[in-house]
Amino acid sequence: MANKWQKLPHLLRVLYALAPRDIAIVGALHLAFGLMPIALVIALRHVVDHAVALIQGQGNLHMTLLWLGGLVIACYLSWASMPIREWMAYGILARFKARTHERLLAKASRLPLQVCETPRFYDQLHRAHRGVDERLLATMESLMPIPAHFITCMGLLIYLATISYALPLALLAGLIPGHLIERKYDQKRYQLIQKHTPSQRRLDYLGDLMIRREAAAEIRLFGLENELQKRWQALFFAMRQERLRLAFARVRAIITGVIGDQIAYSLVLTGIVALIARGSLSVGSYVACMDAVVLFRDAALMLFNGIRTMEDDLHYLGDLLAYLKLEEEGNVGAMPPCSPEDTSAECKVQGDRVPEVRFEGVTFRYPGSDTPVLDRLNLTLHAGERVALVGENGAGKTTLAKLLLGLYLPEEGQITVNGRSLADLDIFAWRKMVGAVFQDYTRYQITARENIGFGNLHRLYDDAAIRAAADKSGASEVIAGLSQGYETVLGRLYDESGHDLSMGQWQKLALARAYLRDAQVLVLDEPTAALDARAEVEVYRQFQDMSRGKSVLLISHRLGCAPLADRIVFLERGQITEEGSHQTLVQKGGRYADMFALQAAWYQ
Ligand SMILES: Nc1ncnc2c1ncn2[C@@H]1O[C@H](COP(=O)(O)OP(=O)(O)OP(=O)(O)O)[C@@H](O)[C@H]1O
Ligand SMILES: [Mg+2]
Repeated sequence: MANKWQKLPHLLRVLYALAPRDIAIVGALHLAFGLMPIALVIALRHVVDHAVALIQGQGNLHMTLLWLGGLVIACYLSWASMPIREWMAYGILARFKARTHERLLAKASRLPLQVCETPRFYDQLHRAHRGVDERLLATMESLMPIPAHFITCMGLLIYLATISYALPLALLAGLIPGHLIERKYDQKRYQLIQKHTPSQRRLDYLGDLMIRREAAAEIRLFGLENELQKRWQALFFAMRQERLRLAFARVRAIITGVIGDQIAYSLVLTGIVALIARGSLSVGSYVACMDAVVLFRDAALMLFNGIRTMEDDLHYLGDLLAYLKLEEEGNVGAMPPCSPEDTSAECKVQGDRVPEVRFEGVTFRYPGSDTPVLDRLNLTLHAGERVALVGENGAGKTTLAKLLLGLYLPEEGQITVNGRSLADLDIFAWRKMVGAVFQDYTRYQITARENIGFGNLHRLYDDAAIRAAADKSGASEVIAGLSQGYETVLGRLYDESGHDLSMGQWQKLALARAYLRDAQVLVLDEPTAALDARAEVEVYRQFQDMSRGKSVLLISHRLGCAPLADRIVFLERGQITEEGSHQTLVQKGGRYADMFALQAAWYQ
């Protein structure tokens, strides 16, 4: 509990830093607003007492009108400040929300890839986003009026205590149990939401699957609509059942709690009537006292409500802060030690020459998995060497490539670049030296130029470089057929005039993106899997040229291209079981020879 409140100063600091002047004004307006009900009660008492005196022929009309004027002005000010406060608060909150979203997005791309491999991470991300979208604004809205309500309550309590100590005590005794009950149920609701996060994400996934374009054809063909809908409903209703049960229990508890409050309220009213009957109160004090009780109850309910809402919201804010802190905590794998700005000697990748990369006893397993994907693996990619990495599905080829690219860090052993461990180098500088076509390459829904240019942002507007990369990969033929050439938007998810491509055409764009990179080390993970035979032959013809002066790791199931490499490495269950030239491995008659013979048989 205490832990939760510790987040409040942090929140206040962040908020204040955003707009100090606006916050000071809103704060002052809130405080003034908090004093208004007390001014109203005092003015009311004087207005009534003066009016009664007037009726009895002893009053002072001038004073009566003066207090009446004060009452009207106090009323007007308290109402007029409301829209101004709301308007200013809206500006502050909008700024706060924008900044927090920016931080969330920036964070997502800076986290080590390893961190992003667990469902737990996506649960956390989901909660963090929900924290911003649904709760952050609510937290601010509940937070801001709290001081005003507090001042109102304290002022009215003191006013009532001047009449009788029993009045505020009885009022508080009636209100506090209800507050505690609601608080307990807020906590239960938060726990339930935590528990439901994985189900909620699965529900979102199913909903998204039913409307996602890539799945539309399969869903129709296999008639999956009803099945998916059934699964969605089962999850939805299971969650709803639990939520309804909790909501019902809450209502029951609150109804019981409210009885105590009603008894206390009745006692207070009876007490006030008794006081006037005994002649201890003037008519004005009686009216003001009744008004003060009502105003106090309203303000106290709003105060308790505000505190509860804020307490509840702080849970969600905790999720957000925990997400934003992920990097510092490094709870899954460590962050690369150097930042992009850090140019110190320790962070520099040595030299501009093509590096030698070595895997030394590298073991790697994905977070949450017991089985190592790479198991004490040793491999050297010599400077300027072309290595073909082959092996069955799931052997660990893509994983090895991602480790080489510095996207994952080894659990044991090390990867060295020119003899220095990748863990000690500037990972960002290293990534600038490497390029890749990933097996699951991205199809950016932007222009053809940008699809290639994203491989090297410095060359985004360098027409000659973009065209050269497109020529090498065969993408230029694809682009020549587009209505606006390189400026054509690819994909039709967001643009009516967009042009969608076939899988092979997309892959040519991905290849061009890698070629634009000027990388010294190039990883090609199934770069021609979707290409037709002519395009594939063309890519491998170019491969000889473009791989000159680079180290290349080529991963392919089509073993026809393996002889193009200087060395073939066969990966099996996370270890290298065979390596050598095509000729050597065929003569050896091992696993590679079997695989090659199997494929070759198709073409005979
Ligand atoms: N993100 C991930 N999280 C957990 N396990 C993973 C992840 N990606 C891959 N794996 C597991 O790691 C093993 C190796 O996968 P990897 O993708 O490296 O194989 P691959 O040799 O590239 O296979 P393919 O030929 O099918 O592309 C597989 O058993 C797979 O289940
Ligand atoms: Mg793979």
